[in-house]
Amino acid sequence: MTVRIAVLGAGVVGSSVLRLAGRSYSRFKLEEAAGGSFEIKRVLVRNLKKQRELPLPEGYATTDFAEILSDPEIQIVVSLVGDTEAELNYCLASLRAGKVVVTANKVMLAKYGPELFKAARQSGSALLFEAAVGGGIPFVDALISGRLAVNDITSVQAIINGTTNFILTKMVENGASYNDVLLEAQQLGFAEPDPSFDVGGQDAAFKLAVLASLTFGIWVDVESIHVEGITDVSEKDLWFATKLGYTIKLIASASRNSLDELDLWVAPALVKKGHFLASVGGATNAIMFEGSPIGSVVYQGPGAGGDPTAASVWSDIAKAARSILSNQAIPLPRFDQELEVCSSQNSESHYAIRVMVKDEIGVTRDVGGVFADAGISIDQMLQLDETKRDGEAEAVFTTNTAMRANIITAITQLKALPTCRDITSFMRVIQ
Ligand code: HSE
Repeated sequence: MTVRIAVLGAGVVGSSVLRLAGRSYSRFKLEEAAGGSFEIKRVLVRNLKKQRELPLPEGYATTDFAEILSDPEIQIVVSLVGDTEAELNYCLASLRAGKVVVTANKVMLAKYGPELFKAARQSGSALLFEAAVGGGIPFVDALISGRLAVNDITSVQAIINGTTNFILTKMVENGASYNDVLLEAQQLGFAEPDPSFDVGGQDAAFKLAVLASLTFGIWVDVESIHVEGITDVSEKDLWFATKLGYTIKLIASASRNSLDELDLWVAPALVKKGHFLASVGGATNAIMFEGSPIGSVVYQGPGAGGDPTAASVWSDIAKAARSILSNQAIPLPRFDQELEVCSSQNSESHYAIRVMVKDEIGVTRDVGGVFADAGISIDQMLQLDETKRDGEAEAVFTTNTAMRANIITAITQLKALPTCRDITSFMRVIQ
């Protein structure tokens, strides 16, 4: 039996998916993984006349989704449209018609996941999305029903936006300017069409919503994630981080706090050199799970790009084909655990706070007193001669684990000190 597939969209990822199917060695690998043969029967495009690098054979492309939906031979719909609202309609209709849907659209999943999974459950079909988070890194299937699923995961910390990691890496390693590197990321094609979605932290937040939902078994609303981007990270922040033995990364984090609530945030953080995530450079993504009994495990690889993303899409197609050929249902993720999401006030972290102070006797006592009054334990303090100017100096204090509410209180009180000129930045720290 041959499994028939429709691909919606022939953009960057869609074209890679089609190209892989056309190569004989890839085809052999795909058929081996699928456990049978397959045929891409239709491709949905917006414009039939568009000149393409990979020409679409006659009679293969269509602009009419209804032709795909009404074709009972098509059992797998691979949705790579990109436009979230249009894609939602295609995916819901396909699921309701009993077709297995494969998608890479993180925004659609994060916004409409419950509706999509409900449709899949009701019709006995399935929704697969290995490519939606971490592009080519194969971990979603492991988390839902594979080798990771037996573990009780207590924390996941990840670099899941390639653009921001590329920018921060180049700023630190080459001393490049933020604007120049952002432009380069756009030219290389991994920044979103509107790059403020990357640098503002939203891209990582949508991915974290999906990742945390799968990891902790509750449906995570993206609105419940505390999000900060990298637009306020200055060259001075990076300089201080290096002096302290850290680097700065945009981290997406989901973990249980001491009140056993789920703490969710996306923010730039100082990551200690020697920590695995500090070594992840360029546009590479990495996802680090901590849990029991597994301990610590890391997945690392390309988070974007046509071919790596197509590899994940094809692994989903192979899984879908195998389940169709063997007449076995694909397990859907469950979101029925009892776990509250914590308020950002209860979020717990180490912090680094940079303070512009008067260069005079008693300043350290004053600042230390504020931290003590707020119940915060100081870990390290650094004041460098290079920052001394006109009777003022800049110092960084790093803390042991503290509640964000206490950090905010301390910052308010530091600002009121006669010896403190300004709080120049404060950021989370990963040890
Ligand atoms: N803009 C995204 C990134 C692409 O930079 O990671 C992959 O989702």
